[in-house]
Amino acid sequence: MKRIEIKKLLDGSANVAIGSTICVKGWVRTKRGNKNVAFIALNDGSTILNLQIVIDPTQVDEELMKKITTGACIGAVGTLVESQGAGQSVEMQAQSLELYGTADPETYPLQKKGHSMEFLREIGHLRMRTNTFGAVCRIRHEMAYAIHTFFHQKGFYYFHTPLITASDCEGAGEMFQVTTMDLNNLPKKEDGSIDYEQDFFGKQTSLTVSGQLEGELGATALGSIYTFGPTFRAENSNTPRHLAEFWMVEPEMAFYDLDDLTALEEEFIKFCVKWALDHCKDDLDFLNKMIDKGLIERLQSVISTDFVRLPYTEAITILEEAVAKGHKFEFPVYWGVDLASEHERFLVEEHFKKPVIMVDYPKEIKAFYMKQNADGKTVQGTDVLFPQIGEIIGGSVREEDYDKLMTRINELNIPMKDMWWYLDTRRYGTCPHAGFGLGFERLILFVTGMANIRDVIPFPRTPKTAEF
Ligand code: 4AD
Ligand code: MG
Repeated sequence: MKRIEIKKLLDGSANVAIGSTICVKGWVRTKRGNKNVAFIALNDGSTILNLQIVIDPTQVDEELMKKITTGACIGAVGTLVESQGAGQSVEMQAQSLELYGTADPETYPLQKKGHSMEFLREIGHLRMRTNTFGAVCRIRHEMAYAIHTFFHQKGFYYFHTPLITASDCEGAGEMFQVTTMDLNNLPKKEDGSIDYEQDFFGKQTSLTVSGQLEGELGATALGSIYTFGPTFRAENSNTPRHLAEFWMVEPEMAFYDLDDLTALEEEFIKFCVKWALDHCKDDLDFLNKMIDKGLIERLQSVISTDFVRLPYTEAITILEEAVAKGHKFEFPVYWGVDLASEHERFLVEEHFKKPVIMVDYPKEIKAFYMKQNADGKTVQGTDVLFPQIGEIIGGSVREEDYDKLMTRINELNIPMKDMWWYLDTRRYGTCPHAGFGLGFERLILFVTGMANIRDVIPFPRTPKTAEF
């Protein structure tokens, strides 16, 4: 008999009449009861909700019943009946049970009681079977779908940029090298340096930190594009906000100025958050109850509020005034400083109490490609700063003027040998354009209320951890 997903049974979309015989398959969350009646809460991952299976123990083999413990995988055939208890609409009166896999209660790590997030990270191969991680995984899926929906509806093209690259987009030197050379026997040139010509690609290559540079090639041909894929950063930051492998969404748009850019950033995030509220209700209700009591209210407030546009220079004034009034920051505040997360959180959570899009940063603290303002000091970079999360988006208008871009590249001593193709966008038919990158996991952090970025991606990669 074909199995029906529990989600479809409970929300009615399976279109099964009460009294029908149906089949469900899944993993046992709990089993309880006595010699007259037993109840199994079955979860098949399609929803956070369980289907209750009611069993007459006299009708089922005793040995089989004993083996059905928390974590076991079973199939059940039975009658769909209206639920007697509160909570859900339907349940199953079992006719027959099939055991696919046992889960020895002595060793199966996911027993009923709540486990710490740290412990669950150690059993990352099983944690998706908990309510919390099931919810996170389903929301991740919905958010990915929302992202494609948003851009598709706006006429953006999904553009695939390479994961292996020879250029460092952010210029921060945080790249993982890709090589097939024997590390114990590296080919050397006469001057003693490594001879990368003998490597697989004939040059030094790395995993990409951003698809932006190739995204700009796409935008200057197709108009508006977006990328959505894995990015890699070998930054040794052990924080609840950083991963070595994370997913980034990077739209890039020809003919966008700074106002167009910030408007898109705001519209995009609001669309995703609203999508979660509209499509992930059961999972959000659970997370709101168990993980973060203010979650749903915070999501609703973000979609109904206007994000602040805040020039960096004004931000410094606000922070300096706070310091003058006695507010203590760990790190100093002065014009030109790369703001620390305590500063960003003060602006967002205490001063404005809503998301802030900071613009016009000092050029010294931003990447080479950002459009230079007439003041000679600032560039048209934007960071979207969110409550709890800090920076969720980084983006900018791009410097489209060949000479200005070259001057900046020379000032920063960026090796241009491998960037000739990027400069060609400014040499042939250059155009005003802009784009941004949204850290997918930071969005998931915000939408789920989870506290640590390691817990919003199935298999996190961080310094010294690459398990599973
Ligand atoms: O601000 P970033 O470094 O910007 C860029 O890479 C640009 N090239 C994007 C663009 O304009 N197309 O990174 C963009 C976003 C950050 O705002 C943050 O949300 C996320 O990527 N991010 C990380 N997320 C998790 N772990 C890390 N180590 C991250 N580094 C950046
Ligand atoms: Mg940034």
